[in-house]
Amino acid sequence: MGTLWSQESTPEERLPVEGSRPWAVARRVLTAILILGLLLCFSVLLFYNFQNCGPRPCETSVCLDLRDHYLASGNTSVAPCTDFFSFACGRAKETNNSFQELATKNKNRLRRILEVQNSWHPGSGEEKAFQFYNSCMDTLAIEAAGTGPLRQVIEELGGWRISGKWTSLNFNRTLRLLMSQYGHFPFFRAYLGPHPASPHTPVI
Ligand SMILES: *[C@@H]1O[C@H](CO)[C@@H](O)[C@H](O)[C@H]1NC(C)=O
Ligand SMILES: *[C@@H]1O[C@H](CO)[C@@H](O)[C@H](O)[C@H]1NC(C)=O
Ligand SMILES: *[C@@H]1O[C@H](CO)[C@@H](O)[C@H](O)[C@H]1NC(C)=O
Repeated sequence: MGTLWSQESTPEERLPVEGSRPWAVARRVLTAILILGLLLCFSVLLFYNFQNCGPRPCETSVCLDLRDHYLASGNTSVAPCTDFFSFACGRAKETNNSFQELATKNKNRLRRILEVQNSWHPGSGEEKAFQFYNSCMDTLAIEAAGTGPLRQVIEELGGWRISGKWTSLNFNRTLRLLMSQYGHFPFFRAYLGPHPASPHTPVI
């Protein structure tokens, strides 16, 4: 019985094995090619990512300007771990105040951008900034409107005792209006910063 079974079963088992041997080899080769291809793609992707992320070399004119500015304000004779302020800004006093100079440069740059006639996309941030700037610069319209817009704001915020129309202040409502509609935080803030004349002395 056993021999008969093994005799019967052996050719049946052998047939498909013999028939699929070239396929098995082909499958292995294809799998290997696929894995190698995937590895290659992955390596190329990694290489591309490492090439494109991280700091780029300083080549643009803006970057070169900034580099010159920082090199001119710092004092590289000072060890940065002992006195970082002097290392980074040691010579800034010889020139103008770096922050003030940067702020002035930024304002001039913004002004140049905003004064150029450009077709901004309606509703975009740029278009809103452009409209806002133009409405501030339109002194004729501001003069023509007179005190109306300001009185409207004062009344919306609860009135003014001097102007007569004063309603008792609803603190919550006024605070909500100020913060949501006017983007203004009415309380004072306290922070620690360097003294303008003596940068190593912190002041509140
Ligand atoms: C730079 O630092 C050195 C060492 O503290 C100092 O002797 C020198 O006067 C500093 N130079 C300037 C321009 O501040
Ligand atoms: C200081 O600022 C003024 C006006 O912004 C500029 O004309 C002058 O060249 C600056 N001085 C130095 C030393 O950078
Ligand atoms: C203002 O808001 C606070 C916190 O939500 C609440 O406790 C208080 O009763 C409110 N005051 C008034 C006058 O509505």
